[in-house]
Formats: sequence, C-alpha cells, structure tokens
Amino acid sequence: MATPILMLGAGRMGGAILDGWARADAFAPAELIIVDPQPSEAALAMQAAGAALNPSDADLAAAGTVMLCVKPQTWQEAAARYAPLLAADAVVVSIAAGVTSGAIAAAFGGRAVARVMPTTAAAIGQGTASLYASDPSARARARMLFEPLGAVVDLADEAQMHAATAVSGSGPAYLYAFIEALEAAAAGAGLRPDEASRLARSTVIGAAALLAQGKAEPSDLRRQVTSPGGTTEAALNVLLGERGLPSLLREAVGAAIRRSKELGA
Ligand SMILES: NC(=O)c1ccc[n+]([C@@H]2O[C@H](COP(=O)([O-])OP(=O)(O)OC[C@H]3O[C@@H](n4cnc5c(N)ncnc54)[C@H](OP(=O)(O)O)[C@@H]3O)[C@@H](O)[C@H]2O)c1
Repeated sequence: MATPILMLGAGRMGGAILDGWARADAFAPAELIIVDPQPSEAALAMQAAGAALNPSDADLAAAGTVMLCVKPQTWQEAAARYAPLLAADAVVVSIAAGVTSGAIAAAFGGRAVARVMPTTAAAIGQGTASLYASDPSARARARMLFEPLGAVVDLADEAQMHAATAVSGSGPAYLYAFIEALEAAAAGAGLRPDEASRLARSTVIGAAALLAQGKAEPSDLRRQVTSPGGTTEAALNVLLGERGLPSLLREAVGAAIRRSKELGA
C-alpha cells in the first residue's frame, strides 16, 4: 500500500472510515495524514493515536494515496487547493457522490483515480463500498482501503456508480426512515413511545441478522412469516400494493440517480 494516506475532509463519512480502520487495525495511525478545518471526533482520535492532523503544505507531498472525502459541492475548491501540493504519482480515491473519475483526474493533474461509494457502517466493519476505476492499480488501491471496512462491490462500468449511489450510498437512510415510520405507526396504534421504538428497532435488527446468516432469500424469509389469511398478509397487501413499496422504491432510487447525475454535471 502506498502510504502515507492523505484524507482530505474527515467529516461524517471520512470519520466513519477512520473509525473503521482503527477498529480493524488496518493502517498504522502514523501512516495517516488528515486535513480538515473542523476535525471530527474520529479525526481527533486518530491524531491522538499518532496521525498527522492539518500539517504544513510541504508534508502533503509525501502522500502515496489521497482520499477525497469532502462534500461534492466543495470538491473542486479542495482539488484546486491541494492538487499542486501532491506527488505526481499519488493515486486519488474519491468518495464524492456523482463526480466522475474523469473530472477528478482533470482537477488532480491527470493522476490515477478510483471512485468509491461507501456507507457509514464502515465505522463498525459492516460497510458496503461500490468501487470503480479504469486504472487497475487505482482499483487495487481502493480495494485495499475499503476491504477492511466490509463488503466491496466492483463495478465494471462507471455509469453504474449512479445506481450504486442510489441503492447503497443513500440506502441506509431509507431503512432508518422505514424504522421511524414503523415507530410512528406503533405509537399511533396505542403503544407507549418507548415500547414502540424498542419493538420496531429490535424487530428490524433481528430480521436483518437472520438475513445476514445467508441461509435464505428475503422472499423466503418473508413467506415464512406470512400465513395465508393472517395479519402479515393483510399488511403486505397494503405495502406491496400498486402504490406500495416496490413503486415507491423505484421512484426513490430514480430520484437519487437523477440527483447523482446533477451533482456530477
Ligand atoms: N455521509 C454519508 O453517508 C456518505 C455516504 C457515501 C458517500 N459520501 C460522500 O462523502 C463525502 C463527504 O460527505 P460527508 O457527509 O462526510 O460530509 P461532511 O460531514 O460535511 O464532511 C466533509 C468534511 O470536509 C471538510 N472540508 C470542507 N472543505 C475542505 C477542504 N477544502 N479541505 C479539507 N477539508 C474540507 C468539511 O469541513 P467544514 O465542515 O468546515 O466544511 C467537513 O468536515 C461526500 O462527497 C459524499 O458524497 C457520504
């Protein structure tokens, strides 16, 4: 691995990556350089363990790998500021939603680029990272960064990053929104708020854990808890109806894809 690894921006997602690396003991903190004007707790913890935080510009030329973890709205500003300070052979790994590898390579003086769409569960080693790079060495570099953080899905075509972003990058928020709605429905059905949240959360976590065992498809697990003419079937007739989950998720994923394309334009 070409180290040191320079992380430009260590907010919510960059911080989750730092936490995940620390948990997996993936890289020695002394191999990390973090640049962020408002360091998150994760960045400060990594600094306490030995990482360099906001060093002088001259120190950035040592980085072999550069992780671009600022918001898509500010990536160009960060690229303009830091690209001139980097080594010519530094590889750039970007997590900016929607921004193409061509645009990033151009802004970083033609350096090799990989794109990754991670999830914040990287912080606990259960992340999902969709990855694209046309350059095989940049792809290998990105794999080494994200394999310690959970599942890595290699995409063959960069255009698929929009769909991967819509399904996986944004996906955790869909599930949290589902849980919030289930809690609200439980409270609306007369359960105390604390009971409503315990029931909804523990049920979702248990159902996901069963799926994680990998012994059954979601459709099998659904059928196992759906007796003909029973309560679950009554609810699923609503949820899977014409304006139900399948069409809602198609629309939601479509909206996220459109936004991903706008952000990259
Ligand atoms: N959050 C997610 O779940 C998620 C999932 C997948 C991908 N991503 C991608 O991850 C990227 C970061 O998102 P985020 O949610 O982590 O954003 P965030 O919490 O705002 O983190 C970005 C950090 O970068 C800092 N920053 C801004 N400009 C900088 C510069 N020029 N140099 C160095 N640091 C700078 C910000 O500081 P200030 O606060 O001072 O601006 C902030 O601390 C985005 O491109 C997003 O598409 C996020």
